[in-house]
Amino acid sequence: MCIFCCTFASKMNKDLLYKELEEWYEVNHRILPWRETDDPYKIWISEIILQQTRVAQGMEYYHRLVTRFPDIQSLADADEDEVLLYWQGLGYYSRARNLHKAAQLMKNHEIFHQAMRRLGDKARGEEIFSALKSMPGVGDYTAGAIASFAFDLPYPALDGNVYRVLSRLYDCEIAFDTTEGKKHFRKLAEDLLDRERPRLFNSAIMELGALHCVPTAPDCPTCPLNTWCKALANNTVELLPVRKPRPKVRDRYLEYTIYITPEKTTLIHQRKGNDIWKHLWEFVCAERTGEEAIRRKAKGEKILELTHVLSHQKLHARFVIKNVSELPEIPDTVVVHLSDLDNYAFSRLTLKAIETLAQR
Ligand code: ADE
Repeated sequence: MCIFCCTFASKMNKDLLYKELEEWYEVNHRILPWRETDDPYKIWISEIILQQTRVAQGMEYYHRLVTRFPDIQSLADADEDEVLLYWQGLGYYSRARNLHKAAQLMKNHEIFHQAMRRLGDKARGEEIFSALKSMPGVGDYTAGAIASFAFDLPYPALDGNVYRVLSRLYDCEIAFDTTEGKKHFRKLAEDLLDRERPRLFNSAIMELGALHCVPTAPDCPTCPLNTWCKALANNTVELLPVRKPRPKVRDRYLEYTIYITPEKTTLIHQRKGNDIWKHLWEFVCAERTGEEAIRRKAKGEKILELTHVLSHQKLHARFVIKNVSELPEIPDTVVVHLSDLDNYAFSRLTLKAIETLAQR
């Protein structure tokens, strides 16, 4: 650990800091459904949803998922296609596939049966934590969040909000998204954690980051941690946190053909391979180079053009409708009636195209 952070941390009056932070939380926190339960299954679902999704958007998906799949067994027994349908529109679909795979692994895993029945939670903390981490889609953050929120076990849960609070509290310039940074901040978080009330502490520091210690123009004079905040003292609040330079975004050009017969049938196929939107459905798709895309655009075949940004890719999509008397034979496609499209899980991009074209 960095010598400066370390020295500062050891000198803090942590009991007073806990009191200020936890009292602030009691007064200011949002009422969220996953905070009203200690059911590890529901907390797990909420944490996977919230990995790359805002609370407001995640809420609707959370309610729909836990209503349709109220426990591990019901999720494990479902078809992956149905799980993807419930995830449709949330993006980062590997989260849904991993959730489903993890449910199938968990249902035969004794530690989860015992944990769900809350047998000796405290004594078996390390066992529960490492079993959680062995599940697909569950890393340090999610395992720490489930362990602390569901079992009140003393593990930190470092999400983006917590990294921001810690980097400011300690005025730490190490990029938090590097291997070194992750290790460093984890140490700080472990050291700062209120081991008597891990659930409350983790909820409070996360909520402080979400509501108060925000990226720009935070209201430092009213912050419960301002007497401890090194960045405030050094006037570096808005320079933190530091992250590593982002990789360049790649442009991709996708051309979709929507064949439509007089009977209102069309062709769709399921994406395979190690690419975006694995196992989601889409219309017949051809990927073009940038130059090809420009040439085809010049031919004036345009129907609908949409741009869609993913974390490392910018997708330039063009949807062309072809009215045909018979559908062509294209390998790996299936014939569906337009009114049955609702039964298939599509990416947000394709959903947007369907919605836009349906309104025309
Ligand atoms: N983001 C990630 N986990 C969260 C939680 N439990 N509550 C609010 N926001 C979150």
